[in-house]
Amino acid sequence: MTSSATEAAERVAELRRLVEYHLYRYHVLDEPEISDAEYDRLFDELLALEDAHPELAADDSPTRRVGAPPAEGFRKVQHLSPMGSLEKVTTEESLAKWVDDVRKRLDSDEPVALVSEPKIDGSAISLLYERGVLVRGATRGDGYRGEDVTTNLRTIRAVLPRMVLPAGEEPPAVLEVRGEVYMPLSGFRELNERLAAEGKKTAPNPRNAAAGSLRQLNPAITAARPLSVWIHGMGHHEGLPADTHWEALQWLRERGFRTNPLAARHETIESVAETCREWETRRLELDYEIDGIVVKVDSFDQQRRLGALHDRPRWARAFKWAPLTANTKLLKIHIRVGRTGALNPWAQLEPVEVGGVTVQTATLHNEEDINRKDIREGDTVIVQRAGDVIPQVVGPVLPHAPGTEPFRMPAQCPLCGADVVKPEGEAMHRCPNRRCPSRGLETLIHWVQAAMDIEGVGEQLVRRLWAAGIVTSLPALYRLTKEQLVELDGYGEVSAQKAIDAIHASKERPFYRVLFGLNIPQVGWVTARNIARHFGSIDTLMGATQEQIEEVEGVGPDRAEAIAGWFSDDENRALVAELRSLGLRFEVGEHDRPVEGPLSGKSYVITGTLEDFSREEAKAALEALGAKVSDSVSKKTTGLIVGESPGGSKVKGAQKHGTPVLTERELKTLLAR
Ligand code: IVH
Repeated sequence: MTSSATEAAERVAELRRLVEYHLYRYHVLDEPEISDAEYDRLFDELLALEDAHPELAADDSPTRRVGAPPAEGFRKVQHLSPMGSLEKVTTEESLAKWVDDVRKRLDSDEPVALVSEPKIDGSAISLLYERGVLVRGATRGDGYRGEDVTTNLRTIRAVLPRMVLPAGEEPPAVLEVRGEVYMPLSGFRELNERLAAEGKKTAPNPRNAAAGSLRQLNPAITAARPLSVWIHGMGHHEGLPADTHWEALQWLRERGFRTNPLAARHETIESVAETCREWETRRLELDYEIDGIVVKVDSFDQQRRLGALHDRPRWARAFKWAPLTANTKLLKIHIRVGRTGALNPWAQLEPVEVGGVTVQTATLHNEEDINRKDIREGDTVIVQRAGDVIPQVVGPVLPHAPGTEPFRMPAQCPLCGADVVKPEGEAMHRCPNRRCPSRGLETLIHWVQAAMDIEGVGEQLVRRLWAAGIVTSLPALYRLTKEQLVELDGYGEVSAQKAIDAIHASKERPFYRVLFGLNIPQVGWVTARNIARHFGSIDTLMGATQEQIEEVEGVGPDRAEAIAGWFSDDENRALVAELRSLGLRFEVGEHDRPVEGPLSGKSYVITGTLEDFSREEAKAALEALGAKVSDSVSKKTTGLIVGESPGGSKVKGAQKHGTPVLTERELKTLLAR
């Protein structure tokens, strides 16, 4: 069918609008309305029409953002106002001192509100819009002159080609926005895997990868790179749409620019300092690298009065954390056999200080991961620490130390000598021997610490009892006597009696904790609780088929199979029977029976920070009406409740399963009903 020229023009306009709209929903709001395939159909139709009607070509068409012709070097462009840089502070004291200085300069008692934003570790850009249309994009360069990378920037989906204006609003004659192009960590890993597979040089870090991708002479290469952008402010503009930075961010977001949802406004320096502390560890939850928090004076009037010194604004500071990485020598790779039989390699390091703490051990994940990073005994390695998390070995500092060899998992269990197995599709090597001494010991440690939380009975005591051959199984723990403890060095009558009392008190722990403690494969806290609620007792659970187990919230076929498999084992059934005869709970009690209510049968997941509830309060309120609240979105989830700064995996999960998303307001309506 050939369409007439006017029909084609109309359809092209409509398709451009649709494609832009869906790009905006996808990249800015993170709330796509249509599937990728539907989006591709729209895009392809537009491409075909533009091909057939070259007279309809337009620079701002979304199709221009992929596969544009190669640029010939980059033209230099003069920035309309200099792109400055930020002065650093590294301690809360110096941050507070800066705020004091700001107050002194303003020379009055006027309040100074501040805005904190993540400092994105990417590549700075300037985007110039004329009458709402992107006409030029440039790198920072030396701050005065940058390179014109418009064609490349157009290939990035999150770069807005045309402002999204509220109905009836005239576009600003000129508006320059500034931001940071970055490569999400997931995309960075994939890119490096791809480059490595093609035998090409990999990128050392996401920042270099982003900067390098942006400066590709062939925009098709940029287009194939997973890049995104956060807009963090305005450059040149005519007529200010806002009085404060905070309002400006809001204004930009409402017009389609991708501004970072983690920005926050503060009335006090304490609140800013708390944010800086919080993100020091939480930054590892993000899918992009940040190297600090930018703190800005909110009021534009105050910003103007503060001015700049050598292109560094007095109204902003970059708060940077102490480096959380250090280099040291990897002395030896050890193997610990965990409670599920998994062989966990860990690194013994030459002691080194990382972010104020001495580190001498670090986790290594599995053989595949160690070999992908090519970490070897004897290498100098980069160690990373993240808050309370166990330090990790990030990778070797190349070249390898002379005489080093690639790491191999031992073929035999280092403890019992059994042949190690690596189940199909799993990354972990396992010791298949259920009687492997380490397994029983690790299960006991898990039982007293994580599952039962028995006061005064910890890893050390369990190890001693194990070594002495006194307690080598879970039931044996409950047969331990005060006399046996007294015979152990260091235990007097009183402390021994206390420990025995605590052990016996643990028999009152609810059913789900017992389930968790039994060390059933793939059964963590949340699953144990859901199983307990679903079946109510061990008898119903043991009588259930794999299909019936799959009906439990958060349990898929693999997990159901593992659970059913565990309970079909005679030895495990005997263990259950023995623990039961010792008086442990194998059914849900009054206190942990689910409540019946208007939301019975419904299940919710909460993500992000809610304004009027803590997460625990929201959870308790939902549970009081009979709903279940779980940790991850599955096809059984009724709704995802989204607060500020929601977790990416949960939002993605909801998109995948088509789970409805609820705002805090909708949650309140739900609770009020
Ligand atoms: S505001 C005068 N906000 O950090 C400069 N910059 O050293 C004001 N950056 O290359 C910049 N995240 O691109 C600002 N949230 C953020 C930022 C940010 C990253 C970069 C910026 C510049 C460098 C300044």
